[in-house]
Amino acid sequence: MRDYGGIYLDLDVIVFKPFDDLLYNDFTMGIQKDVGLCNAVIISRPFAPFVTRWIQQYKNFNDSDWDYHSVKLPWFMAKEYPDYINILDEKAFFWPTWSVEDLELMYKSNNYTFTNHQYTYHMWAAALGRKNTSDLFPTSIKNVENMETSFNRAVRKFLKYLPDDFNETNFNE
Ligand SMILES: *[C@@H]1O[C@H](CO)[C@@H](O)[C@H](O)[C@H]1NC(C)=O
Ligand SMILES: *[C@@H]1O[C@H](CO)[C@@H](O)[C@H](O)[C@H]1NC(C)=O
Ligand SMILES: *[C@@H]1O[C@H](CO)[C@@H](O)[C@H](O)[C@H]1NC(C)=O
Ligand SMILES: *[C@@H]1O[C@H](CO)[C@@H](O)[C@H](O)[C@H]1NC(C)=O
Repeated sequence: MRDYGGIYLDLDVIVFKPFDDLLYNDFTMGIQKDVGLCNAVIISRPFAPFVTRWIQQYKNFNDSDWDYHSVKLPWFMAKEYPDYINILDEKAFFWPTWSVEDLELMYKSNNYTFTNHQYTYHMWAAALGRKNTSDLFPTSIKNVENMETSFNRAVRKFLKYLPDDFNETNFNE
């Protein structure tokens, strides 16, 4: 991100609309409710002053406390260097949240519909853990008939071209 710039996305980030209007900024992150700026989505131009300063701080990285450097620190830095970062609200990238209620809203109910304000959804893989992931297999989502969910409804369009013989067993890990 520092040397070449670009867009970083965690593997469990689903993108709903283009980022074109964000690319005019040096550096963009979104608020993770009550925590900081979540590093699951980062948009940067090469050598943006924010990314250069942030990466310097990783010399003190503590892996047992990863979200300090990765989520809280950018929030503290944003207060110190407000001109170096474009901050999007908590709905833009990371909504609904990883709370038990919001995970149920997404994966156990069909009650949530994304708005066109929202660029992405973060699946919160860490919060989902390895529980019930077979419900989230692409073929399960594509072919679900008896239980529609907010999540399935939002992502099914991306599975239009999934081959009928796709075997997700091989992707289970
Ligand atoms: C790293 O973080 C853990 C958990 O917060 C803490 O117990 C430990 O003392 C920290 N290590 C250092 C070197 O600060
Ligand atoms: C979804 O909406 C139904 C009908 O309004 C409600 O009974 C249910 O509790 C809601 N579930 C969630 C998880 O929001
Ligand atoms: C996983 O699925 C089982 C069976 O459908 C259900 O009983 C259980 O509550 C689910 N667990 C979670 C965390 O959703
Ligand atoms: C899917 O792949 C697994 C592991 O390679 C294999 O054991 C299984 O038979 C395959 N399933 C189908 C339906 O082809």
